[in-house]
Amino acid sequence: MKHLISPSFLSANFGQLNMDIEMVNASQADWFHLDIMDGVFVPNISFGMPIIKQIKSKATKPLDVHLMIVDPDRYITAFKDAGADILTVHYEACTHLHRTIQVIKSLGMKAGVALNPHTPVSVLEEIIGELDMVLIMSVNPGFGGQRFIETSYSKIRKLKELVVSQQSNTIIQVDGGVNNTNAAKLLDAGTNCLVAGNFVFKSEDPTKTIEWLKIL
Ligand code: DX5
Ligand code: ZN
Repeated sequence: MKHLISPSFLSANFGQLNMDIEMVNASQADWFHLDIMDGVFVPNISFGMPIIKQIKSKATKPLDVHLMIVDPDRYITAFKDAGADILTVHYEACTHLHRTIQVIKSLGMKAGVALNPHTPVSVLEEIIGELDMVLIMSVNPGFGGQRFIETSYSKIRKLKELVVSQQSNTIIQVDGGVNNTNAAKLLDAGTNCLVAGNFVFKSEDPTKTIEWLKIL
C-alpha cells in the first residue's frame, strides 16, 4: 500500500479555511487530520464541532479526527455526527479502551489509538488486532510546530513488528514534527501515514509540499 498523507489543520489559516480545504481537496493528500484539544488532556484548546462540520461540508476526503481529550466516550456519537470517518483516542485517556474501540466501530467509523511519547507500544499487545490505526506521537501532544522526538523511530519499528506478528492490517500513523529531515526515515521504519501540520501549511507551496511527501 502506498503511504497516506494527512495534513493537520491545526496549522491551517482559519481566516481562510475554505481555501485551505479546497487546497487539500485538490492535492495528493489522502485525509484531513483534525486535532481536537480540550485544555485538560493537553495544555491547549483547539476547535470543536462547528469547525469539524464546516470542514466536512466541503471536504472530498475522509476526516481523520485525533482526540486529545479526557473521557472521549462522552463524545463519540457527537464526533460521528460532526463527520468523523476515522476517530483516534489516546490510550492514556481511556480506562476501558477495548469498549471505546468497539463503540467507535459500531458507529461505522475506523478506530485508532494514539500513544504519547512515554507510552510503550507493548500496551497494545492484546488489542492490536482490533485497531484500524495506531498513532505514534512524535512530539508531546498539544501544539503544532514542535521538534520531532528521535526515539520515535524505534517505537515505529516495534509497532511494525507487533502488527506483522499478529497479521493485522493496522495502519501506523506518525504525528508531530514531520518534515523533510525525517519523513523518508519514518517511512523506512514502517510508517503508513504521515501527519504534517507546519511543514505543509507554513510552506511556500503547500500543494507541492504534500506532493513531495506523497511521492517519497
Ligand atoms: C499535536 C497534534 C499534531 C500537530 C502536528 O498535538 O496532534 O497533529 O498539529 O503539527 P506539526 O506537524 O506542526 O508538528
Ligand atoms: Zn494530531
